[in-house]
Formats: sequence, structure tokens, C-alpha cells
Amino acid sequence: MSKKVFIKTFGCQMNEYDSNRILNSIKKIGFEKTENLEESSCFILNTCHIRDKAKEKVYHEIGRVKKKFEKKVKPVVIVTGCVAQAENKEMLKREPFIDLVVGPQSYHKINNSIIEFMKNKSRNEITEFDTVSKFDYLSKIKNDESKSSAFLTIQEGCDKFCHFCVVPYTRGPEYSRPFFQILTEAEELVKKGAKEIILLGQNVNAYSYFENSLEFRISNLIMELEKISEIKRIRYTTSHPRDMTDDLIDCYSNSQKLMPFVHLPIQSGSNKILKLMNRKHKVEDYLKIYEKIKKINANIEFSSDFIIGYPGESNQDFIETCNLIDKIKFINSYSFIFSARPGTKASNLQPVEKNISLERLKIIQERLFNYQKEKNKRFENRLVDVLVENEIEGQNKLFGRNEYMNSVIFEGNKNLIGKIVPVKILNSNQNSLFGETNFKNKFKAA
Ligand code: SAM
Ligand code: SF4
Ligand code: F3S
Repeated sequence: MSKKVFIKTFGCQMNEYDSNRILNSIKKIGFEKTENLEESSCFILNTCHIRDKAKEKVYHEIGRVKKKFEKKVKPVVIVTGCVAQAENKEMLKREPFIDLVVGPQSYHKINNSIIEFMKNKSRNEITEFDTVSKFDYLSKIKNDESKSSAFLTIQEGCDKFCHFCVVPYTRGPEYSRPFFQILTEAEELVKKGAKEIILLGQNVNAYSYFENSLEFRISNLIMELEKISEIKRIRYTTSHPRDMTDDLIDCYSNSQKLMPFVHLPIQSGSNKILKLMNRKHKVEDYLKIYEKIKKINANIEFSSDFIIGYPGESNQDFIETCNLIDKIKFINSYSFIFSARPGTKASNLQPVEKNISLERLKIIQERLFNYQKEKNKRFENRLVDVLVENEIEGQNKLFGRNEYMNSVIFEGNKNLIGKIVPVKILNSNQNSLFGETNFKNKFKAA
């Protein structure tokens, strides 16, 4: 009988990608994925440390699992991801239920540590930054993800050290995977049905790989993926304004498959705050990129990330962020109150009063969501091309995304999954579009 593994994932798309690669790896030692925690003999919690009470959330989750196994043989319990990296030995000390702690650049060692643990119950923590060996190892194991929209990590880690951010400490230094290793993995994903490839990296547009003194950048990757006929859509995330070079911007002219949607985090619309954050770009740089891209295609839309209440943020700084939002009118956005991360420079700074931050967040979200609603409304009564990803459980409806990453929900036959289909949008809200595929007769009549 095969052993079962249950994996729970918090955090960003890269964690989702990693969870799948961990599964691919531990299949080699006889584990099969289960959706039923209680039948698992291995439980993996892939964690995120980006904000809030990340650490406490992990212990809470482990506590919940512990309860479920009170009267049963416990599974091997493994904590992976960014909290694992940040907390390392502490986790083993604080929670005896945890057996292994494995950081994001040590996933190539996960099989051996499970085998070792099963043999001699040696609890262990593996958190060195061994990114080259990790990708060498993983590249020898097929990526068997069978989604129509598939993630593909091309770059990992960060050397930028924004003062608020924990990522350089949890993912390690910037590393770009070999160009041809990435293309091979893209081919694997295509064989499994991928129609869309989402290139991932903490600073995905910092991708830079040298071979025989030739530099390969993300623009080269995009144009290479463009040649694979089965791939219909290409995206990348998360990009950094500093690495938004002209060769990448030119892809919006040269590629037919690069989606007209740019997720480009700004964090704040105030140059004073950007400087305090150590972002090393200015609002003007951001606007220049925006204008260059819009000049290529006015239909390209932007989304962004905002941090509200960063230490030192005055009312004037906040107004400047609001002004930037009014200029760009983002189609989508993520906004959070600054969260002091242990070990980062900003964690020692005087925080903005909680009430003020909450009030500013409310104002900014209202503004952002209004633009989102406005933009989404424009799709109503129009046909949009949707890449159908899955059926929504228990609802008899399908879920997919349009070119701008909007969620589109509609009734339709399951055999549409994996296809790009025209959907007529009937309704919308701030997050989603609602439509139908059965519109042809109605259109003729109209
Ligand atoms: N590399 C990307 C960039 O530089 O724009 C960001 C990647 S980070 C994983 C995703 C987002 O989390 C950031 O854009 C930022 O808005 C948010 N974030 C990171 N640290 C944060 C903190 N301490 N408090 C609140 N939000 C935070
Ligand atoms: Fe974090 Fe992005 Fe800044 Fe790197 S560039 S430190 S990942 S916010
Ligand atoms: Fe979270 Fe680590 Fe991703 S902190 S956002 S899982 S890089």
C-alpha cells in the first residue's frame, strides 16, 4: 500500500509551485497525494512569513493537526517554506509534534530526511541556501502539474533588501535558473496540458542567466516560449520597477502571447516613503514605465501592491499614494497595513498609529476597489476570451481567467476545461466577472 501525503500551502504562487515540486519529489519514495488529512502518513505545511502573525498561524495549524491525530499514529510532520527558514531550530524546540523543518532552498534534501526520520526518528532542521543543487536535483524530476495555467519558477531569492521585507532572509540571494532547464520544464508542462505559463520569481524580471558569455533575460524566455504553439498565454510575476528594462517592455510589441496585464508593485506613491523603504525607484520612474507600456498598447492594464502606514508615512505621503492611484487606475491591487517583520530594518522604526493606518487602508481600498469595479463593468455585454481552469466545487459552474487575470465565472460544460473560450459577460463586481457561453442565438437576435 502506498503512503499518503497531505500538503497545505500558505502564501504566494511560488509556494504553490514549490508544493507541487515537493510532491513530485516525494513520489519517488512512495508517497501519493491525498486530500484527506486523516489518512496521511506525512503532513507538510508550506508556510509564508510575509506579514502578520505568520509564525503563530503555523503553530495554530500544527495544533489543529495534532488534535486530529490524538488517538492515531501521528504522521511525519514537516514544516517547509519561509517560516521554516526564518524560525528553523526554534520550531523543533517549541513544538515536539514537528519532525522536520526544511527551508525553501533545501527541498532537494527532503526525501533523504524523511527516510532518515522514518529509520531512526531523528528530528532535523535543514535550512542552508543551496539553490543551485536544489534546481539541479528538481530539474531531473518531471514537473507533472496538469493545469491549463501552470506556474514555472525561473528566478528565486532577492538581493534588494527593501527595509520592510523578509524575503531576502527566507529565500536567500537572487538566483536565475539555467535558460534551457526552464524551457525543458515548460515543454513538460505543455505535455500535461498547460496553455498558459506564468513565469515566477521574487524579482522575476531580474532574471539573468549567462552561458558562453551570452546573457539570457526574461525577454529571451518570453520570446522562446512564444514559439511553442501549444502555449497560448504567457505571464510573469512578481516584477520590480527597477528591472523593468526596455527589452522586456519591447515584448509587449513583439509577443502575441504576452498578456496585456502588468503586475508592478509600487508600495507607495510618495518618494519620501519609497526612499525610507529602500526601494531605490521613484514615482516618476514608475510613471515612465507606465507611459512606455501604454504607448505600445493602450489596452494594457496595471495591477500593484501597496503598503499602508509604513513608519514615517505622513498624511501628505498618503495623499500622494492616493494621487498615484487616480493616475493609473489599477485593474487589480493588493493593499496591506505595514507589518513589522522580525530581523528587517523597518521592524525597529516607530510605527504609525494603528487607528490611522486602519483609516488610511479603508480609504485607499475604497478608491482601489472603485476603479476595479469601474474597469470590470466595462467588460459587461462584451465577449472576453477565457482560459477555463476548473469547475467550481458544488456550484456546477466553471472558473477561468480573461487576459487581465480577472476571475470569470460561468455555466458551461466541463469539456471546456483547458480551452480558451469566448464568454459573454453579463455582470461584474470588484473581483469577478459573471457570464455565459450560450450566447450565440441571443447575439444573432440582438
Ligand atoms: N518582489 C516584489 C516587489 O519588490 O515588489 C514583492 C514581493 S512580496 C513577496 C509581495 C508583497 O508583499 C509586496 O509587494 C508588499 O506589498 C507586501 N509586503 C512585503 N513585506 C511586507 C510587510 N512587512 N508588511 C506589509 N506588506 C508587505
Ligand atoms: Fe521583498 Fe520584493 Fe523588496 Fe525583494 S524587492 S526585498 S522581494 S519587496
Ligand atoms: Fe510568503 Fe515567502 Fe512567498 S514569505 S510571499 S511564501 S516568498
